[in-house]
Amino acid sequence: MKTVSLIIDGKEVKAHKGAKVLWTALDNGIYIPNLCALRDALSPHASCRLCWVEVEGKNQPVTACTETVEQGMVVNTRGPRALRLARTACELLLASNDVDCARCPASGSCELQKIAAHLGVKLKTKRLRKVLRNLPVDSSSPLFTYDPNKCVLCGRCIWVCRERRGIGVLGFAHRGFYRRVTTFGDEPMGNFDCGECRECVTACPTGALCLKPED
Ligand code: FES
Repeated sequence: MKTVSLIIDGKEVKAHKGAKVLWTALDNGIYIPNLCALRDALSPHASCRLCWVEVEGKNQPVTACTETVEQGMVVNTRGPRALRLARTACELLLASNDVDCARCPASGSCELQKIAAHLGVKLKTKRLRKVLRNLPVDSSSPLFTYDPNKCVLCGRCIWVCRERRGIGVLGFAHRGFYRRVTTFGDEPMGNFDCGECRECVTACPTGALCLKPED
């Protein structure tokens, strides 16, 4: 397969033609915040708006998960305009998240924590008004709990359940502020015989889907 050379943050890297900037950067040890991207998803849905980068010659920052590498491209992951957009996206997520890290089983491995630290955003940021959804936690599955208040709507769980496992128990419902991950008919997750593969839990970047402790 044909390869191209490009510069990311001053480092020369190589990538397969057609590769996306996000995966090229990550594969070369350059972190770009991301929540909704999945490597094996054919078309990124680019919903989290965290992966902004600046590309020399482009007037506006672009999302690294959708931007295809080009020969001679020069990418800056720390440009001020890209960082400003990514920080705002991160603050929006935090404003609708309970950020109850002290009691969250995912604390320490949570990707939202990591992204906030990378972007220099305080988890308890007060720049945006906090608007919480106060949704009920679903503990009906024998395997995991689902806390929609910690969900960042990245869609990874939906994608792995449907595309990778071919099951499709999960989906999005509603729009805007009321958008959330749920099941068909909004039934408790424990009502579905999903095969218990745990891939949704593994894919979840926060503590929204967490395995229950084993007895
Ligand atoms: S990873 Fe690019 S928009 Fe979410």
